[in-house]
Amino acid sequence: MIMKTNKIAVITGASSGIGKAFAIHFAETGYDLIITGRRIEKLTTIARQLREQFGASVQIILAELSEEKEAQKLIDIIKSHDNVFVLVNNAGFGSGIEFCDNELSKHLQMLHTHVVASVELVYAVLPQMIRRKDGVIINVSSLGAYLPAPGSSIYSATKLFLKSFSESLYMEVHKYGIRVQCLCPGFTRTEFHEHRESHQPTNKNKLLWMDTETVLEESVKALRKDKTICIPGMINKLLVGMSVIMPRKLYYWLMQKSGNTTDLGKMELTAQIA
Ligand SMILES: NC(=O)c1ccc[n+]([C@@H]2O[C@H](COP(=O)([O-])OP(=O)(O)OC[C@H]3O[C@@H](n4cnc5c(N)ncnc54)[C@H](OP(=O)(O)O)[C@@H]3O)[C@@H](O)[C@H]2O)c1
Repeated sequence: MIMKTNKIAVITGASSGIGKAFAIHFAETGYDLIITGRRIEKLTTIARQLREQFGASVQIILAELSEEKEAQKLIDIIKSHDNVFVLVNNAGFGSGIEFCDNELSKHLQMLHTHVVASVELVYAVLPQMIRRKDGVIINVSSLGAYLPAPGSSIYSATKLFLKSFSESLYMEVHKYGIRVQCLCPGFTRTEFHEHRESHQPTNKNKLLWMDTETVLEESVKALRKDKTICIPGMINKLLVGMSVIMPRKLYYWLMQKSGNTTDLGKMELTAQIA
């Protein structure tokens, strides 16, 4: 029996992977949902499942978040509700292509999706959260925020932006009872790696790869403890720790040595060395 909360959770990029896991979690805990993505069939199937299984009311918004007009459409819809308690800025994609080899428009699309749309959405929901003194904002960053690498110049930079943005935001709005989390997953089994334009990771090391349920579990646990940065998994935490203490020149050498194969900071090679 689901206890309805009369609260809305907005989740971008809920048509698959981590966003879908968040959608299931919030529906299961009594939230109604606004879910976004670009693939109507996937979103419709998920919405039907959440309505049938948890009695959630689910609104689907099709939006290409790299486009200002489409992001604005979502913002207007969000603003028309006064009971948005949760925002998960999750929509995102990778490329794996070196900076000069990729089209500038592709870089700009990533900047808009990861950075501009996330900032706009936070700006849209915060006033009502502050007024109510209650709310949750989760910005889905990446381990790549800590581990820049060839092939992930814009990806890592945008994810680092989300980390810094989340931390400042936390300090500003914590006094209103609003929790802000920056979730930094490592390799996660989703459609993300299939959609990348460049190489896909070949070494699907069980220690490094996590499933979406585990990432979600860790995020929820961190939220309960009011932790701002959530890095799921011991190995991922270790990699971040190593990257901080490692001399930068050694770090660059390691990353370059692994060749132009993966992003997320060439984690696989680093992990093997660790
Ligand atoms: N998987 C990993 O290893 C990993 C690691 C670290 C961080 N992350 C981060 O986790 C987040 C979720 O990714 P995922 O792993 O769950 O991948 P995924 O299964 O490919 O899901 C990505 C979601 O984002 C949406 N999306 C992508 N580009 C979009 C755009 N331009 N406009 C609107 N929606 C867009 C997709 O929707 P449609 O395709 O329907 O448009 C999809 O719902 C991303 O921000 C990613 O950077 C993933």
